[in-house]
Amino acid sequence: MAFIERVTGMSQKNTITLLENGPLLVEGEARVYNTVSELVAAETPIHLCRCGASANKPFCDGSHTRIGFTDCCTVDNSKDEELEAWTPLTITCRPNAMLVIRGPVIIVGPDGTKARRNKAALCRCGASRNKPFCDISHKKINFQDDALVVAAKPEQDLEEQESVAEGETAAPATLQESADDGTAVTPDAAPDIKQEPDAE
Ligand code: FES
Repeated sequence: MAFIERVTGMSQKNTITLLENGPLLVEGEARVYNTVSELVAAETPIHLCRCGASANKPFCDGSHTRIGFTDCCTVDNSKDEELEAWTPLTITCRPNAMLVIRGPVIIVGPDGTKARRNKAALCRCGASRNKPFCDISHKKINFQDDALVVAAKPEQDLEEQESVAEGETAAPATLQESADDGTAVTPDAAPDIKQEPDAE
């Protein structure tokens, strides 16, 4: 199947490059929002953590080297899409979960493999078995990225932390995730989200 890229020949394009055993390198034009919808970056290049260990999420702070994060090889491009007309990317951090990418982007693997998406959910916990895409592994490892939520909602977050510490399931409203189209995804429906970000 031949792919028609409307961005071909255009001066503007967005790329997200998976640096080998390291962060996501975002180039082009992008706006990054934290877990409470605050704009935290509007200029590229940006290095976003995908190992899950950064103390400055969503940005890389070099911790991937300390923890020995490894990810090389290829990007699954079997679900490539015809890229839509160029727009800046919006990158949103879902609480304790993935990065949601909206906008036409070329995702470049460490081996140079390219995948083309108009939306995607990318792993930032480091545990996905389908990197760079999210496969809900953040739930299995109880990935926590509450620093920004704590700053915005201290009381709510404290209650959630205490619940988790006691072995309870955190509040559904917090753990509930949405697919790229905004459709709510419950834990029971979690396997579907693997398909949502890459949905045809
Ligand atoms: S990828 Fe660099 S700190 Fe996580």
